[in-house]
Amino acid sequence: MTSETAPFLEGRGPYWPDACATSGRSCPPPYTGLDRVHMQRRWADTPVVCRCHPHPARVGAALCDPQTHLATERDKRLADELARIAPRSRHALVDSDTFTTRVIHGALSDGVTQFLDLGSGHIATSAAHAAVAGHPTATIVHVDHDLHVDSHNLCELTEDPILMTRPRTLVHANAFAIGPMLTSLHRSGALDRSRRLCVLLVDLLYYLDPANDARSVIRRLVKHLPSGSWVAVNHLTNQAPSTLDSPGARAAFRRDTDRWCRAMTRCVPPHPQASSRTEFGRRIADLDLHPPGITSTGSWPDPDTTRLPQAPYTLAAVGRVPDLSEREPRVTTGDRS
Ligand SMILES: C[S@@+](CC[C@H](N)C(=O)[O-])C[C@H]1O[C@@H](n2cnc3c(N)ncnc32)[C@H](O)[C@@H]1O
Repeated sequence: MTSETAPFLEGRGPYWPDACATSGRSCPPPYTGLDRVHMQRRWADTPVVCRCHPHPARVGAALCDPQTHLATERDKRLADELARIAPRSRHALVDSDTFTTRVIHGALSDGVTQFLDLGSGHIATSAAHAAVAGHPTATIVHVDHDLHVDSHNLCELTEDPILMTRPRTLVHANAFAIGPMLTSLHRSGALDRSRRLCVLLVDLLYYLDPANDARSVIRRLVKHLPSGSWVAVNHLTNQAPSTLDSPGARAAFRRDTDRWCRAMTRCVPPHPQASSRTEFGRRIADLDLHPPGITSTGSWPDPDTTRLPQAPYTLAAVGRVPDLSEREPRVTTGDRS
């Protein structure tokens, strides 16, 4: 077994930025935490390309298909480690794909035909890409900040003569810069902001650095999109649902999620950050949620009835952009005498 194929052992390096810090030549110097916080606010800023560390989209591809040509050996080693820590890691991706497909079908049957796929990952394995490809009048814009993802997606599109004829756009940029992103896509004709659209934030929001206000992502979508637009979002949680009532099982759930997140810090940043259910509710509070409100990714559009949830576990919700003009103005009265 070569060092390249030896399994990653939990707790033993390299974690970010170990290898980059010593490699010197092959990677640009790792940026600081503050750089990352600012980078997630700017539309054109994207992370460094790193040859020493796994990349999350490629690790996801390796989890789905251990033989995939999209992933490097390091990505595959991390996929194996994640599956050892949390055997449900592969199934969690199936749940995300099911969620994406159901949301797209729901939006299409509501008459929405424009889709914006944020943090799209590889379109070769993307449920959003597949669901929209089957619908002749639907259009989709895929946004991802990873240069490897963008290059693979470009090849995928240009090599497929049928896809070349379909209206779809690939953008290599920062999907958290909501205002500049929507303006840029509207100006370029990729999106028509006078018509409703469906925005997918599937396995993305938990990559936002905690120093950036996660509620502001959804709030800015609500501010800029036509009312009745759909927003679908899920979020990794380390808080077990109430169906798991034994304190020991709840602690194990939290511990496994934290170990899973720690393993993901072998990747280039940003790294996943789990939240509580209350915090997820706060982040999506500006949407009018479709029933059943907050559920799990695998259950939507039904309530979450999972009896034995296992890490990595994601909460999910789909909401509409409310019609702000219909809101009652706030009236404040007070006795000034
Ligand atoms: C776990 S993958 C999810 C892929 C896809 N949404 C799916 O459900 O299959 C997360 C993706 O988000 C991308 N990503 C993370 N932060 C981003 C950001 N600020 N802007 C754009 N893409 C981002 C990563 O490069 C990666 O491809």
